[in-house]
Amino acid sequence: PKKAVVGPLVGAVVQGTNSTRFLVFNSKTAELLSHHQVELTQEYPKEGWVEQDPKEILQSVYECIERTCEKLEELNFDRAKIKAVGVSNQRETTIIWDKFTGEPLYNAVVWLDLRTQGTVDNLSKKIPGNNNFVKSKTGLPLSTYFSAVKLRWMLDNVREVQKAVEEGRALFGTIDSWLIWSLTGGVNGGVHCTDVTNASRTMLFNIHSLEWDKELCDFFEVPMGILPNVCSSSEIYGIIKGGALEGVPISGCLGDQCAALVGQMCFQVGQAKNTYGTGCFLLCNTGRKCVFSDHGLLTTVAYKLGRDKPVYYALEGSVAIAGAVIRWLRDNLGIIETSQDIETLAKEVGSSYGCYFVPAFSGVYAPYWEPSARGIICGLTQFTNKCHIAFAALEAICFQTREILDAMNRDCGIPFRELQVDGRMTNDKLLMQLQADILHIPVLKPSMPETTALGAAMAAGTAEGVGVWSLEPKDLSAVRMERFEPQIQATESETRYSTWKKAVIKSMGWVTT
Ligand code: G3P
Repeated sequence: PKKAVVGPLVGAVVQGTNSTRFLVFNSKTAELLSHHQVELTQEYPKEGWVEQDPKEILQSVYECIERTCEKLEELNFDRAKIKAVGVSNQRETTIIWDKFTGEPLYNAVVWLDLRTQGTVDNLSKKIPGNNNFVKSKTGLPLSTYFSAVKLRWMLDNVREVQKAVEEGRALFGTIDSWLIWSLTGGVNGGVHCTDVTNASRTMLFNIHSLEWDKELCDFFEVPMGILPNVCSSSEIYGIIKGGALEGVPISGCLGDQCAALVGQMCFQVGQAKNTYGTGCFLLCNTGRKCVFSDHGLLTTVAYKLGRDKPVYYALEGSVAIAGAVIRWLRDNLGIIETSQDIETLAKEVGSSYGCYFVPAFSGVYAPYWEPSARGIICGLTQFTNKCHIAFAALEAICFQTREILDAMNRDCGIPFRELQVDGRMTNDKLLMQLQADILHIPVLKPSMPETTALGAAMAAGTAEGVGVWSLEPKDLSAVRMERFEPQIQATESETRYSTWKKAVIKSMGWVTT
């Protein structure tokens, strides 16, 4: 390594639904120097339920930090050069733990979990007329997706949680809060906080006043004493106690999708990115204005990069199942051995031959918000084989992105002329080509696809009192982009897309709640 250009280093925890990673960047060049990844267990105790073990998540963070530091040292970099750490995380996933023992009081209820549909139905009845009461304050529809109903479910159903709340021992948090509290000392003075982006996904947070909302907490019957302190996305929250990075400040925190928006340098109004992870999330920066959607998109806090810095908002199109469908084909059907095999299978046929796969495992999110939908594979013939199903699974990810891009175009009024993408799955060239074909606009992928981590590292490195990150967004937005141009006629993408829409309609109303 050319030591001359290496400045202070900045680390980023990327805690996703599927895996945890820790990545270290050179603050002088934004070059990725070292990283480590650990895949996580998902638990499905009942149909529609999705849980994770908070301790496994925490352990995976420690392991990734340790291994990344070891790899860094193998490259002759001193781990003491890491001057700040940022956290980015899967959003909405809900944890309650005991502040005196540090023990989680229940498994983490994951954002995809559907057990709260009954709670949502009951709460909807409490709102006279329509559910604008929640949406106008939070930017979100009343849905199983967000934390408040998961928390309500735990308060109603888990005796341990009820007892801990009564005895003043319970703390609530999304993954960021759990990690920051644990890493900064846990029972020995851990800091209980979250940032505005994560708070904006709980359905308890007022996105206009940037505070927990008393009326919402009353509505969901959530005791405000268990909520974390809300901070900006870039400030020193606390100092890491123990482990490989003892003494390093945690000074950046963003929900993963917001971190990717920052990492893609989408700082101008109208700039957008689509991240392909477990789900797919298209966020468009709307500046300092809260824009409300007429087409099923969410209004969310995008970032607030410092205590005294302004808040920025985004419109978001959320797709629940993207990469998760590949994991399902691997773990549940066993038609592939590794996630990368999907591209090989799909390539063999180059078309789904009329097979459509709607992976509505958790209902469908944007733009439909239809909890009654369930996954379907249709258009099967005796000719259909696993290669066509693999192709249809990839195509489903692209069709779902087209649905949210169309909604975004309708809300914004100016159609997107190209789409910036990132996330693990963008390494799949077939998927990216399919995406360009189905959107019928060019798709642009940065040569450094770790934009979520980069966003968290930038927030951490630029925080007041840290100040080790001097690169300007303009220095980074020029990073080389790989470009995928549409290669089919617009009429062909329209035909395929309209058949997809028929399939989505078929997936709806499958379950009655
Ligand atoms: O809202 C859920 C989202 O933050 C999950 O992200 O990266 O696990 O797909 P990911």
